[in-house]
Amino acid sequence: PRHLLSAGDLTRESALHILDTTERIGQAIAGREVRKLPTLRGRTVVNLFYEDSTRTRLSFEAAAKRLSADVINFSAKGSSVSKGESLKDTAWTLQAIGADAIVCRHSSSGAPHQLSGWVDGHVINAGDGTHEHPTQALIDAFTVRKHLGDVEGKRIVIVGDVIHSRVARSNVLLLSTLGAQVTLVAPPTLLPKGIESWPVTVDYDFDRALAGVDAVMMLRVQRERMGDAFFPTTREYSRQYGLDDRRRALIANHGIVMHPGPMVRGMEISPSVADGPGSVIVEQVANGVIVRMAVLYLLLSART
Ligand code: CP
Repeated sequence: PRHLLSAGDLTRESALHILDTTERIGQAIAGREVRKLPTLRGRTVVNLFYEDSTRTRLSFEAAAKRLSADVINFSAKGSSVSKGESLKDTAWTLQAIGADAIVCRHSSSGAPHQLSGWVDGHVINAGDGTHEHPTQALIDAFTVRKHLGDVEGKRIVIVGDVIHSRVARSNVLLLSTLGAQVTLVAPPTLLPKGIESWPVTVDYDFDRALAGVDAVMMLRVQRERMGDAFFPTTREYSRQYGLDDRRRALIANHGIVMHPGPMVRGMEISPSVADGPGSVIVEQVANGVIVRMAVLYLLLSART
């Protein structure tokens, strides 16, 4: 495919191909003083960010630079978007300056999909509204595989603000494609309508859902997407849906603790769990660079 817009577009074979390519790239640069490959020399990658980001923007930039591509960073803040310029006109501007790939984050679900219809280059969805974040799901699958040997058959619990989480949507699609058993734990008000049709089990009892699982993935509570809607206090949320040391002890001995970041420490996860044994949160960020190198390499080298 020309673009990476949804984890749902990935077959088991194509997802495994990306994970295997990530593994090979990781091995190719491991221990090297110069962690740079010449693969995308002369190609231009644009980071088009209409919404804030730390990990995704930095790791796409690092990934493109480590493949020797030219990188242009566009942030809506400080651009002509403030003068009313549309996404379509911005897309044509990027096309005119020769973007071979556009990495797009946008607060509107579907924006990267629209963009893909306006440009000749490759479009990668770096998070669109509450819809999807496919490269985050690839990072998470890669991290599970690294620690647990395989994704197939693993029991993975995803916890928290599912309704607003593009990370949850992409992970449910990809992890189930790869054969994991996914359970969602959330307050009923933070589960989307139509959850019955998702390939998951839903459990409202966090303690029960954690018993012996291989991985627990905590989600950030996205207050910025909640408007004035009723919301429990931090203490109440944390008591019912927060991962603390007591709950951490319920997962399997080999089990891992994941969070895509940014974390709200003390809300969905306690600092002692975030920084404690079995936490792979920092490793997820490190894996982000090589997963995104693999995605850029596979999309862009297919055209050369
Ligand atoms: N996980 C993630 O997408 O983080 P950022 O919002 O910082 O990019």
